[in-house]
Amino acid sequence: MKRKLTPALLMFIVGCAGPLVQPTQTDVERAQTKWQDVNLASLQLGHTVYTERCGGCHRLYRPTAFSEKKWLHEIPEMSIKAALSDREQQLVREYLLTMREAPQSK
Ligand code: HEC
Repeated sequence: MKRKLTPALLMFIVGCAGPLVQPTQTDVERAQTKWQDVNLASLQLGHTVYTERCGGCHRLYRPTAFSEKKWLHEIPEMSIKAALSDREQQLVREYLLTMREAPQSK
């Protein structure tokens, strides 16, 4: 019997592939349409906080692994688990929501 990849399994495989994308100037421009004070340094800091503080208990989910709604629900909850400051939480939110829209992560 031939087994088909279910969409959920496919998402899982895609979600695990390769290292996390680093933000670039193009991502900054897209981010600034939502958050005016974002710059390359703050997006890169969000990437650092995410990779250093969010991967201790489970694998690092790729930004594209979840919908914006799901991230907005998980980030505050997980920031408590990871003991992030409000600023760190905001950096992670900006990083994840910006990069989930990145053409290079699709
Ligand atoms: C202290 C351990 C711990 C840390 C640190 C942690 N998580 Fe989690 N995370 C969990 C556990 C346990 C679950 C599953 C149960 C739940 O949702 O509470 C989870 C679930 C998730 C989910 C949902 C996954 C799914 O398939 O539904 C996301 C997204 C997530 N974490 C993101 C993050 C982010 C972002 C950070 C950093 C801010 C983070 N986690 C830090 C323990 C942790």
